[in-house]
Amino acid sequence: MRILVTGGTGFIGSHTVVELQQAGHEVVILDNLCNSKEKVVDRIEAITGIRPVFYKADICDKAALEAVFDKEKVDGVIHFAGLKAVGESVKKPMMYYENNIAGTLNLLEVMGNHACKNIIFSSSATVYGDPAFVPITEECPKGTCTNPYGWTKSMIEQIMMDVQKADNEWNIVLLRYFNPIGAHKSGTMGENPNGIPNNLMPYVTQVAVGKLKELGVFGDDYNTPDGTGVRDYIHVVDLAVGHVKALLKFAPGSGLSIYNLGTGHGYSVLDVVKNFEEATGVKIPYSIKPRRAGDIDACYADSTKAQKELGWVAQREIKEMCEDSWRWQKNNPNGYED
Ligand code: NAD
Ligand code: WQD
Repeated sequence: MRILVTGGTGFIGSHTVVELQQAGHEVVILDNLCNSKEKVVDRIEAITGIRPVFYKADICDKAALEAVFDKEKVDGVIHFAGLKAVGESVKKPMMYYENNIAGTLNLLEVMGNHACKNIIFSSSATVYGDPAFVPITEECPKGTCTNPYGWTKSMIEQIMMDVQKADNEWNIVLLRYFNPIGAHKSGTMGENPNGIPNNLMPYVTQVAVGKLKELGVFGDDYNTPDGTGVRDYIHVVDLAVGHVKALLKFAPGSGLSIYNLGTGHGYSVLDVVKNFEEATGVKIPYSIKPRRAGDIDACYADSTKAQKELGWVAQREIKEMCEDSWRWQKNNPNGYED
């Protein structure tokens, strides 16, 4: 298939482009580079031997989207483009609603204008809020999000459900990711956060490489075995493969589908530190800090539905995730910066 990947130079998008190309699909990337670098296109080409078509364009710019769809005949879209920093979304909610929601409305409208009605959307386990139960199945009710970023995901899901209900030519896949970490085996592509990382793994790797002094562990009094927060960390390449498998659901008449993409295993913050140290031989100094606002005790997936319907199951274990994150950080201490 020929697939338009919005946000295709970002962390998950770039790994997905590699897996798409290696599975024989053609890729067109559209990204405004607000949180990524064009250099990623070179890295994708170096890994796969194929240079994806690249457009520097904003999903909020409807005319630019129209121009891309006029030029490129695509069978469907994988939609990663969006802002994702939870703390920033609390400070700048309008920016998040505008970029993520208005941008997605534009994209859906332009797709409809071009009779392109197949889309996979990057949703998140954050839509479950503080989950009613774990492991979380897709039947788990959606919850109250603790920040505007989370609401954009929840609201876009609702918009897409309504669009599909109104016109059943649409095939829509909502993929709810758990906590993506890891990096491409080559050590040439990985996560490239701006400034001090908000997420656990990039923080750990920056401590390991000496850019940060110690890890702050946000709370040790959660209702979990060691008191620190438990999450379902998933290798970004497994997640990428999940998108390739989800293309199955572009078959006519598929309608709307929702899948959790996680490993089903919960690891605490201290488990991650221990596994990282064992996998890499690098010590991670840490100290216990107060809880971070909005954090929950535990969040991990039941991904049986994706296994049954897409034939997808996460293959990579936590140690491999740590090794790959570390290789990327060590080889690229400043990410994609020279
Ligand atoms: P990322 O920031 O690395 O990638 C997002 C890409 O979208 C970036 O390259 C950015 O430049 C681009 N972008 C943002 N706004 C745009 C716009 N208006 N027009 C065009 N391009 C735009 O993030 P990621 O970690 O790769 O996440 C990809 C998607 O998955 C996002 O929608 C994110 O919310 C979602 N998601 C991420 C996680 C996670 O923990 N990383 C978890 C669940 C869901
Ligand atoms: C994991 C655990 C922290 C940093 C976020 C978003 C979510 C989704 C994925 C997009 C928690 C602890 C972290 C640190 C720590 N993104 N931690 N010290 O919060 O599960 O999910 O990213 O959709 O929406 O909320 O991930 O990596 O930030 O935290 O102790 O310096 O690590 O308290 O228990 P989180 P995270």
